[in-house]
Amino acid sequence: MEGLIASWYAKTTLKDLKRHKLMAKQLVEKIPGNGKVLEIAPGPGYFCIELARLGNYQITGLDISKSFVEIARRNAAEAGLKIDFREGNASAMPFKDNTFDFTFCQAAFKNFSEPVKAIAEMYRVLRPGGISVISDLRRDASAGEIEREIEGMGLGRLNEFMVRWTFRNMLLKNAYSVDEMRSMVAQTPFGQCRINVDGVGFQVLLEK
Ligand SMILES: C[S@@+](CC[C@H](N)C(=O)[O-])C[C@H]1O[C@@H](n2cnc3c(N)ncnc32)[C@H](O)[C@@H]1O
Repeated sequence: MEGLIASWYAKTTLKDLKRHKLMAKQLVEKIPGNGKVLEIAPGPGYFCIELARLGNYQITGLDISKSFVEIARRNAAEAGLKIDFREGNASAMPFKDNTFDFTFCQAAFKNFSEPVKAIAEMYRVLRPGGISVISDLRRDASAGEIEREIEGMGLGRLNEFMVRWTFRNMLLKNAYSVDEMRSMVAQTPFGQCRINVDGVGFQVLLEK
């Protein structure tokens, strides 16, 4: 996503900030104090911003989109927070081995062109004992579950229509099932994972 599409996404998902606030509160217990955190594919950076408000973490965001990196840097500056947003690819991360205590990837994994490589990169940049979490839509989410999710976003009618169309015609087609996730993880040095199903999505927990 670049240019106008990135700006539309940033504006639309700003109305759904509670998703990022809740996720940051939920994940904070997995991150050591002053820990080094990497969000992979943060888009406009809302999760990083909410996490930065909860503790003294060193947070980095890595996104392939130049537009999103610019938007995220602007959002962090406006919030008065120091977060290192940079451009790069999830399947070839510009970081040394064993750098981060925690990595997170939300609503983006299904978009990666080299998903197994991206999981292997999460392992490489994580320090021993560190945790990676992938949170995404699951392909077998039912129509009713998706409808409830969209209603909960509090969007206007036009945006609701666009989001519903995107779910049906793009997102679900790219999403993975729980079994597919397990099989991809098995091809990486993590070897195994825990997966919690949660509404339209799942959370994959990986430990190094
Ligand atoms: C739907 S947005 C999700 C953004 C954010 N995580 C959220 O929850 O709102 C998907 C993001 O994945 C990024 N992305 C796609 N492929 C990528 C890759 N190979 N490496 C890094 N970022 C990637 C896009 O640029 C975009 O920011």
